[in-house]
Parts: sequence; structure tokens; C-alpha cells
Amino acid sequence: MSIVFVNSPVAAVAADILVLVVPQGKLALALADIDGPSQFAGTLAAACADENFDGRVNGSFLVPSLGRVAAKRLLLVGCGAGTANDLRAASGVAGFQSRNKSAKSVALFFPCSPLAGREISLCIEAFSEGNYRFDKYKPEAQRKAACRTLSLVGVAEDAAAVSHAEALVAGQTLARDLVNEPAAEVYPESIAKVAEGLAGERISVKVWDETKIRDAGMGGISGVGQGSDRPPRFVHMSYTPVGPATRHIALVGKGVTFDSGGLSLKPSDGMMTMRCDMAGAAAVIGTMKAVSMLNPSVKIDAIFGAVENMPSGKSYKLGDILKMYSGKRVEIHNTDAEGRLVLADCLAYASQLNPDVVVDLATLTGAAVVALGEWYTALYSREDSLSAELLAAAGESGEAAWRMPLPDLYRDKIKAEWGETKNTGGRNGGSITAALFLSDFVTTKKWAHLDIAGPAFLDSTLMHYCPGGTGTMVRSLCRWIGP
Ligand code: BES
Ligand code: MN
Ligand code: ZN
Repeated sequence: MSIVFVNSPVAAVAADILVLVVPQGKLALALADIDGPSQFAGTLAAACADENFDGRVNGSFLVPSLGRVAAKRLLLVGCGAGTANDLRAASGVAGFQSRNKSAKSVALFFPCSPLAGREISLCIEAFSEGNYRFDKYKPEAQRKAACRTLSLVGVAEDAAAVSHAEALVAGQTLARDLVNEPAAEVYPESIAKVAEGLAGERISVKVWDETKIRDAGMGGISGVGQGSDRPPRFVHMSYTPVGPATRHIALVGKGVTFDSGGLSLKPSDGMMTMRCDMAGAAAVIGTMKAVSMLNPSVKIDAIFGAVENMPSGKSYKLGDILKMYSGKRVEIHNTDAEGRLVLADCLAYASQLNPDVVVDLATLTGAAVVALGEWYTALYSREDSLSAELLAAAGESGEAAWRMPLPDLYRDKIKAEWGETKNTGGRNGGSITAALFLSDFVTTKKWAHLDIAGPAFLDSTLMHYCPGGTGTMVRSLCRWIGP
């Protein structure tokens, strides 16, 4: 999608859809340039009244222009108080509706909100999010056209905001595509190849096969991966900035390309969407994609373990005791609590690199979804400043994270009879005990864990996100990483 800045009078802007973003209670002002005698002649104001449209966030309606203005259709979208986040939400609705109508050219007009800098970027990001569909397996006739040209009307040109948005969108879209692809397409070897595809001047990529993983002592990744005909992969991407690095970050992702539960097999309902269980790795890959375009002054190591969790004669079993990369022995109480085993090896490896901070992302627990629903990422960290940074970056991006407690009081829940720890902590506080388990494999002082089990994959449309992968946290991570 190309972005153009247009400065002609709004009534003269040619587009499949012209979007008018209307703040609540400012209808007259917002319609001034388009509802005049030579245009809609007051009929738009009347239509708004009939449709009960007053500019509330998420309110919208579409009208044919009947030749009264140059655009073919007019979409009115509310933006409430007109905060950056409201403008973002309105742009998301515009992107979503435009895709439903197969609009190839869309013009966005904010009559009451002069956009600048960050808002321009946010609106492009949200429009792109809303315009996204995963329809490559649908017959041509059932696919809707994506927007090819997005015009920003009456906005002063800002090339930096556009390229920033384009990088974030490219990263997020890659993550969504990876999550949406069936597990027959995205499996450990193939997702490792996607990471390898990001190798370039500033990014190097190392991939370990199953033998190297076993020989290195990564018993968590080996154990979970051994039941599948698809062998596991361990991936380490490394980005080095051109100039001196302001800090050294490690990103870690859970890359379970399909989670059947293993011998602790999931019922069909719970298994249906488990191709999404590599969303953490997808977020890490997507972020590196964006990083390759943004060139931040930060050193980044990005790590994920890619495995398929399957039941077979070779599967790891309940009662097995895995020797992890860190040397710790973990007693297996449920083969469906596999993510923490894969992550534990990656976190121990990441810690060895001595970064200033480690952030991991994982569709780790159903308990996080029960606690916070599908919109919130559960954030765990002992570091107040790191938590604040991540919450702020999510807030700025229009994503949502909520800090959860990490109490030592619950450590007893993961104490094992024979090994050092076990891989389940019971039903109560399931997302917390999973985070506590992970914490035992991190030696870096600053560490945060993002349980994205809720927002990574949507069963039904939520705001301007269609069902399926969302690419959650890619944009937030990019903002957190900084320039
Ligand atoms: N991948 C799942 C968690 C999950 C659930 C992600 C729903 C996305 C949506 C994870 O591997 C899992 O199965 N966790 C178990 C842990 C339990 C066995 C201790 C869970 O949450 O039930
Ligand atoms: Mn599982
Ligand atoms: Zn899982």
C-alpha cells in the first residue's frame, strides 16, 4: 500500500472511499467542506441524524456519493474526543470497512484534527491492521481487494512518519501471516527458514538442527520436539547497529508450531487454533523484520525454539525428568505445559549472552486468557521500570498489557518430588506459576515475560482486527526498542 499526502479540497479528492473522521459533538464543523450547497447540500447532516451518528468512537456509516463529490463513497467514522488513540481507532475502522468494500483507493480526512508525527504513523498502522485479511486460500471470487493507495487529505507531508509506520506494519503483517498459515506450512524447519530470510548486512542468523540442539544439552526443546516427525530447530538472530549501541536487548519467543498437547492430548476444541502457538516466535521475527527497516541504535539478540508438540511412540512422557540447558532437571507432569520447557532453554541461552534486558513473548497459558480475556497481554516482571517502559510502549501503540504479580509465595506450587521443579503448578494462578517457572531460567537481572495467549489469535472479529493472528506486540516492541 502506498501512502500519499493530498492537499486538494476534500470534495475534489478522487477515491473509492473517502473517510471523514468526525469528533463527537463537532458534526457541523466536520461536515463544513463537504455538506455545502454545491456538494451534499445538508443531506449528510440529515443522514447523520437518521443514523444516530454523533461521532462516538466506533460509530460509522457508509453512503454513496451519487456524484456530489469526486469520491465514490463516503464513510463517516467517529473519533470521540479525538485523542491519538481515538484517531487510531477510527483509522482502524476505516481500514476494516474499506477491505469489506474492496476499496483499492481510500482517502482519510481529519477535518478537526491536524495530524502530525506520531499520529500520522499510528493512523497508517491502524488502517493497515484493519485492512488486513488472510484470504489466500479462498477462491478469487470470494477475496476482497486490499487498499493499494491511502491518501491523507490536508496532512502535511511527513516521510519519516510514513517509513516508521511502514516498518511496523511490515513486521506486524509478517507475524500475522506466520500465525495464520496452517501448521502444514509453518513448522520448525520452515519458520527457521523465514528467520534466515531476514539475514543481511546488519542481521546474522544461526539455526541449530535437532542433533545440535541435543548435543548442546537443550533437553527442554529436545524433549518437547521428540514426539514429532518434524524435527525441532533453535534459532538465534542477531542485529548489530551501525554506530555504538545504546543498550543490548534479548528477545525470546515461544515457537510451538503446533500444540496438540502431546500425550496429554488436547480435546479438539482446544486444539483447533493451536497453530497460533508460535505467535511469540512470530512476534520476534516480525520485530526483527521491522528492525531491519528501522535500524535502531540498539544491539538485539532474537531467539526462539521451534518445535511441534505431538503424541507418538517417541513422545516425551509424564514422569520423565528432562535435563535442561541450564542444567536444572524438570519433572514432567503434563506434556501440554510444553511452552515453558522450550522457553526455559531459550531464556538460559539468552542469559548467557549477557544482555542488559531480556523480554520473552509466549502464548503460554490458557489461564492468562481466563484472567484477562483476549485483549490484554499479561506482563510479568520484577523490575518496575522495565514494566513501566513496556506498558507505556503498549499504550502508545494502542495495544494492551496488564501487569501481573510474580509472588515467591507461590513457588511451592512448582516444587517437584524428584526433579528440581515440575512443569505444572495446578489450576490456580496457572499463568503466574508458569511465569515463576520461567524466572528460574533467567539470570539477567532485567527480565519481562509477556503471556500473549489472549491477544495473539482471535476467534472472532475484535475492533478492527479480523479473526486469526493479530501480530500482537510487534509494534509495541518496536516502540520500546526505540530509535
Ligand atoms: N499453548 C497453550 C496455551 C494456550 C491456550 C495458548 C489457549 C493460546 C490459547 C499451552 O501450551 C498450554 O497448553 N498450557 C496449558 C498448561 C497446563 C497444562 C498447565 C494450559 O494453559 O492449559
Ligand atoms: Mn500446551
Ligand atoms: Zn503451547
